[in-house]
Amino acid sequence: MNLEELSSLTQHALSDLSAADSVDRLEEVRISYLGRNGKLPEIMAGLKHVSPEDRPAFGKAANEFKLQVTQALKDRKDHLLSSAIPADALDVTLPGNTGFRGGNHPIRQIMLRVIDVFDRIGFTVATGPDVETVFNNFDALNTPADHPSRDEQDTFYLSDGTLLRTQTSPIQIRYMLENPPPVRIIAPGRAYRRDTPDATHSANFHQVEGLYVAHKVSMADLKGDLTHFAREILGKKTKIRFRPHFFPFTEPSVEVDFTCHVCKGKGCRVCKNSGWIEIAGAGMVDPKVYEAVGYDPDSTTGYAFGMGLERIAMILLEIDDIRRLYENDARFLRQFA
Ligand code: DAH
Repeated sequence: MNLEELSSLTQHALSDLSAADSVDRLEEVRISYLGRNGKLPEIMAGLKHVSPEDRPAFGKAANEFKLQVTQALKDRKDHLLSSAIPADALDVTLPGNTGFRGGNHPIRQIMLRVIDVFDRIGFTVATGPDVETVFNNFDALNTPADHPSRDEQDTFYLSDGTLLRTQTSPIQIRYMLENPPPVRIIAPGRAYRRDTPDATHSANFHQVEGLYVAHKVSMADLKGDLTHFAREILGKKTKIRFRPHFFPFTEPSVEVDFTCHVCKGKGCRVCKNSGWIEIAGAGMVDPKVYEAVGYDPDSTTGYAFGMGLERIAMILLEIDDIRRLYENDARFLRQFA
């Protein structure tokens, strides 16, 4: 080996070192140059074949080779170690391990959405107890003594003559007994009926009641406010329609349909090809109700409506069986949390 070859070997060593991309690879390079069977011993062994006048220069170059390679090796190792991420390092870019936080039940979510829509147009929340008087649940709501809904077959009566309210409508009565007009309330709560549970029936369920009583409230107000509600809940293009119906506490009474949010009214499986889904019962408050709460039936006008929250939850969240809402299977509920 001559001086020129030694110098090119040095360049090779330095470029091999800077190309080493791991500590293991670096060790291989180190062994190949500085190891017992590597290049350095070879150079040293070759020293004796160099002519005596060239020997000092060659010896100096050999020493230089060793120093340079050793230094470059150390620098490269420091670099690799400082930039390497150890296997147990904390990767701050990974999503955190937050666990399951819980959330509102689907019924509660829908309830809050309904309340929110009416809250923003001036309604306040009213509530009442689940155990009600016959007066608040039936009599004051102009429901005759022989009305089928009063039957033991349909209503849970308690031994002291009270009952589990069959609707949220008695909250209207409570509120009007305590407050003079004008009244603008939204009243969510549980209701109970002696229904045999199936995919669409449950013996306890939830309703939201609305009541707006003032002077000169008309059917147009009812339609306008429910249209606003429909658009907030099911989308801007939603239309509503009134179908004549009967409720003891309203006259006239209607059932309220919204255009199907899935097919936008064209007809599909969800709306059973009608294009419409039934959402609420409503009407103009019957003067008999005003009499029962001590309002002047001649000068008072108002509308009322009531709707089932399970039904809206099932439509919006595409739930096929009402019973799923009460089984409290965390795997089911988590989908909506
Ligand atoms: N209470 C009725 C029911 O449970 C729903 C209802 C209909 C409420 C018309 C109202 C109304 O306030 O005006 O079927």
